[in-house]
Amino acid sequence: MTSKAFIFDLDGVIVDTAKYHYFAWRKIADQLGIDFTHEHNELLKGVSRVRSLDIILELGKVDASQEDKNKWLIQKNEDYLSYLVDMDASEILPGVLPILKFLKEQNQLIALGSASKNARPILEKTGTLTFFDAIVDGNDVTNAKPDPEVFLIAAQLLNVKPENAIVFEDSVAGIQAANIGRMTSVGIGSKSTLHEAKYIFQDFTQINTSFIEDLIR
Ligand code: BG6
Ligand code: MG
Repeated sequence: MTSKAFIFDLDGVIVDTAKYHYFAWRKIADQLGIDFTHEHNELLKGVSRVRSLDIILELGKVDASQEDKNKWLIQKNEDYLSYLVDMDASEILPGVLPILKFLKEQNQLIALGSASKNARPILEKTGTLTFFDAIVDGNDVTNAKPDPEVFLIAAQLLNVKPENAIVFEDSVAGIQAANIGRMTSVGIGSKSTLHEAKYIFQDFTQINTSFIEDLIR
């Protein structure tokens, strides 16, 4: 049997951190008088910290010096990290642990493919680090999603061909990255937002083991 690689995004897939990114960005946007809605926030999902700030500034048509940008990037991350101080396994999204455990029981390879530079401490705090055979995060890539680099590196580390990799993603950019990388994309979230995904589920509680077994085959 050909080996498969199951690659998970982190924020909004494994843990419910997408809301904390939103809160922290909204503070910056409020400070600058920029209207920043949940809809705008979809554009930021899966996108690097630096690019996220640029998108917010573009939304508000704000021109800023590099010095100001650096200050806001630090402020955003400090604020974001303040939400993670007491983080524990209770922040793991519903249905994720049973799927991770099932994949392990089936001796499947599991990787993380995240844009975040805060990925490792989050995996540690939630006790999920040991599930992963490879971790690729924002510290390892030069090209952000929708570039497939993060997923291609993950598949390569696991010695699995891209076409045998399955990517779980909650962001439009991440689904596009998986598709561009010729991987099987599984969207976690709303059908209207993630319509480019090959399969879409509202959350992991909707994914049953027979679906995973079919992917393994
Ligand atoms: C992605 C999130 O996983 O990581 C984005 O979806 C975030 O919202 C990006 O901007 C970078 O994260 P961090 O933790 O390095 O600021
Ligand atoms: Mg995400």
